[in-house]
Amino acid sequence: MSRVRTTHLARRKAAGEKIPVLTAYDATMTRLLERAGIDVILVGDSVGMVVLGYETTVPVTIADMLHHTKAVSRAALCSLVIADMPFLSDKLGETEMLRNAGQLLAEGGAAAVKIEGPRFDSVRTLVGAGIPVVGHLGLLPQQVHQLGGFTRQAQTEASGRQLLNDALALEQAGVFALVLECIPHELAAEVTRRLSVPTIGLGAGPGCAGQVLVSNDLFGLTDGPVPSFVKQYAHVGDDMVNAARKYIADVTAGRYPETLDEHESR
Ligand code: KIV
Repeated sequence: MSRVRTTHLARRKAAGEKIPVLTAYDATMTRLLERAGIDVILVGDSVGMVVLGYETTVPVTIADMLHHTKAVSRAALCSLVIADMPFLSDKLGETEMLRNAGQLLAEGGAAAVKIEGPRFDSVRTLVGAGIPVVGHLGLLPQQVHQLGGFTRQAQTEASGRQLLNDALALEQAGVFALVLECIPHELAAEVTRRLSVPTIGLGAGPGCAGQVLVSNDLFGLTDGPVPSFVKQYAHVGDDMVNAARKYIADVTAGRYPETLDEHESR
């Protein structure tokens, strides 16, 4: 099982192979995803909402990202691991940005970082320093307070044209893939046709070169509603609740542990 590299994604797109990507935030999830055949893993700053209990991704720090990226990298045997640059971590000057991104690779074990927004200079600087970058356009969750919510983007002709130009400029700046989140399907398909690097869609329709989902949403592990574009392939959260209820009932009724052996083996 050989390691997936950043350069493999453009080859997959050229060969017409779709690219499935999922998020992971810990070693267990990473092992399960690899068992299923996933080989591109995003340690998203969605960790803030999915695991850390925040309402948005804004409070996520570089220390949070490092902690979770390390856990994923330790377990990832063959996957390309991409780590999100959290809120402001690329905006407080070049040195700070390079230190943050460099840490995610050197200490965190990621092979690439993802940056939200049309950050052409940041991408050029990071790529120039040997740090591969994934771009991210459309809905930018780190700007949720400015946007006034997690709303669909690029709804007008002018904003669609702007997004296409930003995508082309990000490719020029050196991204090796581009996440497109919550934009019109036709626009995402057009961007995909115009770029040679793969687009990875999230609520952006079937015309993208790949798709990404937050794993907890896909597994039915998310507490509360999930975005309308998410397909839930399982209801693992309900299974966990049922299992915990059975355990509580067994312990309360004295049915568990059943024998001294069961109690002591291990
Ligand atoms: O943080 C995240 O999980 C993301 C997505 C693209 C799913 O950025």
